[in-house]
Amino acid sequence: STVYLNGQFILASDAKISPMDRGFLFGDGIYEVIPSYQGRFVGFEPHITRLHSGLSQLSIHHGKTLADWTEICQSLLNHNRAQLGNNLAVYIQVSRGTDTKRNHAFPLNISPTIFAYAFAIAAEPVPDKAKAHTYNVITGNDLRWQRCHIKSTSLLGNVLHYQQGVEQGAHEILLFDRDGNLTEGAAVNVFVIKNGEIATPPLSNKLLPGITRLLLLQILRQHSTLNVVERDISFEEVMAADEIWLTSSSKEIAPVLKVNDTPVGNGEVGDIWLAAQRLFSAHKY
Ligand code: PDD
Repeated sequence: STVYLNGQFILASDAKISPMDRGFLFGDGIYEVIPSYQGRFVGFEPHITRLHSGLSQLSIHHGKTLADWTEICQSLLNHNRAQLGNNLAVYIQVSRGTDTKRNHAFPLNISPTIFAYAFAIAAEPVPDKAKAHTYNVITGNDLRWQRCHIKSTSLLGNVLHYQQGVEQGAHEILLFDRDGNLTEGAAVNVFVIKNGEIATPPLSNKLLPGITRLLLLQILRQHSTLNVVERDISFEEVMAADEIWLTSSSKEIAPVLKVNDTPVGNGEVGDIWLAAQRLFSAHKY
């Protein structure tokens, strides 16, 4: 496939990054994953806004504009569509750059390493109960750091939590902070539905401000009369939910059928999920 590296479109096999890159040595970088279907990106602008926000919080100066990113990402779709198909996500990673020595302090006068590539993703999710990709999850204490709002390439905390789920035969893990409140999953935001209320934890340093979460909140508030709130959610509320959804760029809205081997609600894909995925599919672009 063709990838983008530091201003050039090259073959993936020709893309080389120094082992002295701070992305490799320190996980000192920011990333994004932006989905597209049939050549159209979902949430492109908010994804780039979050990328710029993360980079600015890390004082990584890159000089790229929304127009630059649009050109890079569209070119990646054009270069790879024939080989990889029409459902592609673009991964963007910007690290602080490559230094001659390993030193924790930000080096002066290095330029960031900018890498992007396209990869095939599953077909566009559809509002059809029979076709929904469903998930079983476990729960656990959130042992990550206190800067979970930054989409950092330092993902070890998330990787270990995700693996915890895998080793217990689950697809994801719902994480709870020290006060017993839900934060998010290892790679997803979480929505909990009870008696018609659709709740998700409020934004803070404890979770990633997911773009699917953002789009879903906006769409539900604009195009439905469903009751949508951002508030703290306890473990007991999770276990007593009628429906639970996981959201992420690749999953859109994914119903959870079991938590710790206990069925969620009646153990089937829910009616509110169907309504929400219908609205999301109709208004996401
Ligand atoms: N994961 N929370 C975490 C910790 C995530 O890593 C992700 C995304 C999300 C959902 O965010 P969004 O709706 O913007 O995709 C929430 C990406 C896709 C990944 O790491 O592959």
